[in-house]
Amino acid sequence: MEKRKLVFATNNQHKLCEIRAILGDKYEILSLEDINCHTDIPETANTLEGNAHIKAKFIYDQYGLACFADDTGLEVEALNGAPGVYSARYAGGNGHDSEANMNKLLLNLKEKTNRKAQFRTVIAFIENGEEHFFEGIVKGEIIKEKQGNCGFGYDPIFCPEGYTETFAELGNEIKNKISHRAKAVEKLCAYLTHKQ
Ligand code: IMP
Repeated sequence: MEKRKLVFATNNQHKLCEIRAILGDKYEILSLEDINCHTDIPETANTLEGNAHIKAKFIYDQYGLACFADDTGLEVEALNGAPGVYSARYAGGNGHDSEANMNKLLLNLKEKTNRKAQFRTVIAFIENGEEHFFEGIVKGEIIKEKQGNCGFGYDPIFCPEGYTETFAELGNEIKNKISHRAKAVEKLCAYLTHKQ
């Protein structure tokens, strides 16, 4: 049977790999590039939900395809939830400079004993004009120095609860089972399976 097509509104290869590893058996996951969308969709909301909505709605309106979009933030307790929705651009500039972002976070936490943090992912899914949101959270703590080479973003400084290694040391196989994104995708998947 032909797999159902779903657009994942991203070109981030790490995320596409993660999502295809989780959903790939059942769905053909198309990236923005796969559908020939080269627009830089602006993420102008000040919540994860808002940004996920903007991206999914843009694709749904322009292409009429079932689509989901995610937005993720690292929420640090001692920093009142920062960097949160601004995680990609925490160190300024155009964003996505992971080294600069991690350095800034480590500096801001230097004097803090409370190192608790969580990754939170929100997925917005739109099909037939209906929108649903799914949330995934993984709790953990920010360690003092970067460790490990796998993954991306803040992975080298985030140690998930119940583990002594960072996401970057644990590697993708374990991360894909326990991560914020995996949890949000599991909920999306359960929803998709249930409604079939
Ligand atoms: P996005 O909205 O999903 O692109 O995520 C925003 C920022 O959060 C990214 O630029 C990364 O710095 C960080 N981030 C998102 N997901 C992860 C992850 O799984 N591990 C580490 N950092 C992440």
